[in-house]
Amino acid sequence: MSEMKIGVIGTGAIGQTHIERINTKLQGARVIACADPNADFCKSIAEKFSLKAYDDPKDMINADDIEAVVVTAADNFHEEYVLAAIEAGKYVFCEKPLAPESNACRKIVDAEIAGGKQLVQVGFMRRYDPGYRQLKELIDSGDYGAPLMLHCAHRNPEVSGFTTEMSVENSLIHEIDVLRWLLGENYETAEVVFPRTTRNAEGELRDPQIMYLTTESGIRIDVESFVNCKYGYDIKCEVVCEEGTLTLPEPANVMKRVDAARVTPICRDWSERFVDAYNIEFQEWINACKEGRVDGPTAWDGYVGQVTAAAASKARDAQSVMTIEFDEKPAFYN
Ligand SMILES: NC(=O)c1ccc[n+]([C@@H]2O[C@H](COP(=O)([O-])OP(=O)(O)OC[C@H]3O[C@@H](n4cnc5c(N)ncnc54)[C@H](O)[C@@H]3O)[C@@H](O)[C@H]2O)c1
Repeated sequence: MSEMKIGVIGTGAIGQTHIERINTKLQGARVIACADPNADFCKSIAEKFSLKAYDDPKDMINADDIEAVVVTAADNFHEEYVLAAIEAGKYVFCEKPLAPESNACRKIVDAEIAGGKQLVQVGFMRRYDPGYRQLKELIDSGDYGAPLMLHCAHRNPEVSGFTTEMSVENSLIHEIDVLRWLLGENYETAEVVFPRTTRNAEGELRDPQIMYLTTESGIRIDVESFVNCKYGYDIKCEVVCEEGTLTLPEPANVMKRVDAARVTPICRDWSERFVDAYNIEFQEWINACKEGRVDGPTAWDGYVGQVTAAAASKARDAQSVMTIEFDEKPAFYN
């Protein structure tokens, strides 16, 4: 089977890593073009990876030789390019968030349904992390009884230019998606509380924060977001079930015994922690597109994620518990 030809929109940090992964590590596809309104920068990336450079991403989406599109532009531009790809009838992988506003996500859902074919996948890569996959298998086995509570944490060593709002919208959006997928249930309520703020928070930033979610069956989730934890990039998830607890495995790193201490390294950032997840995510996306289907997180998952994040943001601003209300799931996504 021939290689699927891909165009990447947005040649910033993650766009470049995806180009490199598809063209050097994965099989069955090749990035042949890129587009970014920052023309000189786009040309330099195109030269580095031997791609054709487009100033206008829509020209690239509509080019005859482009079979699928990867959107890694800044968040506000996702909607425009995903809609253009749907109109062109091309598979489109869009980095999270599908769009910053839930209305825009709903517009994408409606456009995809109107087109009559599932084309959109959202970049919620945690679902591809081998540790989360093991957790899901064990929960789904039912051997440990029903999940009752989840205790989770999302910690970054430090993040500059971060605002209080970004904890939910940029960090916890990953937990919002992956925990819903793990449990196979929608959320009902959201709340965000502020513990004492670290002295390492810049300006007005409230850090850490704790988001509480409840699900339809009453499972209670707490997730800590701490973007100035200083020591490393650390992701935790413990699922307390009726007859046992299930804990997300730590990345496999050698433990050293040195200087009268046991030392096991912790990842420094998300790109290191989730490198396997990104590779698996893209390989499976390529394989599915070539078989004519989408089997990863859908535009509907993108919509549900943004509705939940918006409710959590409202809850944070109002310092109260918010009920989360979704539209009814269209049969198209069953
Ligand atoms: N899945 C993940 O864990 C993960 C991690 C990092 C980033 N992301 C997402 O990937 C996207 C890009 O993030 P990044 O860190 O690479 O940002 P970045 O700022 O490094 O790159 C963004 C790129 O978008 C380009 N751009 C701006 N306006 C554009 C437009 N109108 N059309 C096309 N391109 C445009 C910019 O020139 C820049 O090259 C964001 O949506 C972000 O949320 C996801």
